[in-house]
Amino acid sequence: MAQEVRGVIAPGKDEAVRVETIVVPDPGPGEAVVRVQACGVCHTDLHYKQGGINDDFPFLLGHEAAGVVEAVGDGVTDVEPGDFVILNWRAVCGKCRACLRGRPWYCFDTHNAKQRMTLTDGTELSPALGIGAFAEKTLVAAGQCTKVDPAVAPQVAGLLGCGVMAGIGAAINTGGVGRGDSVAVIGCGGVGDAAIAGSHLAGAATIIAVDIDDRKLAKARTMGATHTVNSRETDPVEAIRELTGGFGADVVIEAVGRPETYQQAFYARDLAGTVVLVGVPTPEMKLELPLLDVFGRGGSLKSSWYGDCLPSRDFPMLIDLHLQGRLDLGAFVTETIQLDEVEKAFERMHQGDVLRSVVVL
Ligand SMILES: NC(=O)c1ccc[n+]([C@@H]2O[C@H](COP(=O)([O-])OP(=O)(O)OC[C@H]3O[C@@H](n4cnc5c(N)ncnc54)[C@H](O)[C@@H]3O)[C@@H](O)[C@H]2O)c1
Ligand SMILES: [Zn+2]
Ligand SMILES: [Zn+2]
Repeated sequence: MAQEVRGVIAPGKDEAVRVETIVVPDPGPGEAVVRVQACGVCHTDLHYKQGGINDDFPFLLGHEAAGVVEAVGDGVTDVEPGDFVILNWRAVCGKCRACLRGRPWYCFDTHNAKQRMTLTDGTELSPALGIGAFAEKTLVAAGQCTKVDPAVAPQVAGLLGCGVMAGIGAAINTGGVGRGDSVAVIGCGGVGDAAIAGSHLAGAATIIAVDIDDRKLAKARTMGATHTVNSRETDPVEAIRELTGGFGADVVIEAVGRPETYQQAFYARDLAGTVVLVGVPTPEMKLELPLLDVFGRGGSLKSSWYGDCLPSRDFPMLIDLHLQGRLDLGAFVTETIQLDEVEKAFERMHQGDVLRSVVVL
């Protein structure tokens, strides 16, 4: 029997989000219904609301979540009711050309639930990143559920479902940050700070945090930044070069998603260094770079989808590190809020007041 629960929808471009009654179908083959316990507010939810991702309104927002599996459909063997899980938005298929070549984190055919959640009048909802977890319950593909140690608090665990995983993974998976490296991170929100924490975890020697907001820079220091640069006041490219013996950083992680910050990342990198774009641009943005510089500076320009993570490999490992006291995931939670406070949380995010607001249910 389908169930009715409360959920937060974005009704149309730039309209305020609101709590509505959502109809959640019973799980079909390969699907699971999850009772959501916590879901972080990510900048990507705001992009959805602003129409920056696509026009498939209304969206059921929220995608950074943890909860307990309530029911599973036919053929589901990896999780069962009662399992504590983190939801992921890249459930790998195991069959596409990337998966078959042993690179499942690139999977080109990730999947979501086949059935749709709806409003009570039957209007189909587009769940943000195929999750839709600003809701008491949500329907996902079973492969989107990754079991982790239930000893961790849900509001902390959920963060690995998107921003924190994207940031840590941008550093340790995509950027390949290792012991002794110099790293610069441009944009120190939840994603950028996670890249800083990931670089710290990986043993980077120099970690330069760049932001336009001093409050973010102060927080970045607590995450492991060894130096900070306010790029409103100081040219970040020059500052990063100065802090790295005049050369630039081995790895520069762009966690804003704008052409000007990408350019900064491009030029703040040492010869043969790596740029990782983890910030998500909007469709109208364009980048212009001298092709000769792209060639002449060598190295690699990479994008990081979800931190190139493999949820089944990375989520349990990072939760274990957290439980051992080696990765302070709790530091990312600025506040916990209720479902009807998501609009307010967007405002606070926009003003730079929070790293993560987390809806607890
Ligand atoms: N690649 C992925 O898989 C993935 C996953 C999650 C989020 N994201 C994206 O990562 C980006 C960051 O997300 P977030 O949740 O941390 O957002 P956020 O709003 O919390 O943080 C953005 C930070 O960038 C700073 N900033 C803004 N303009 C800047 C500029 N010109 N120079 C330097 N700093 C600037 C802000 O002060 C803020 O601290 C977003 O684009 C989001 O969509 C990507
Ligand atoms: Zn695949
Ligand atoms: Zn996100």
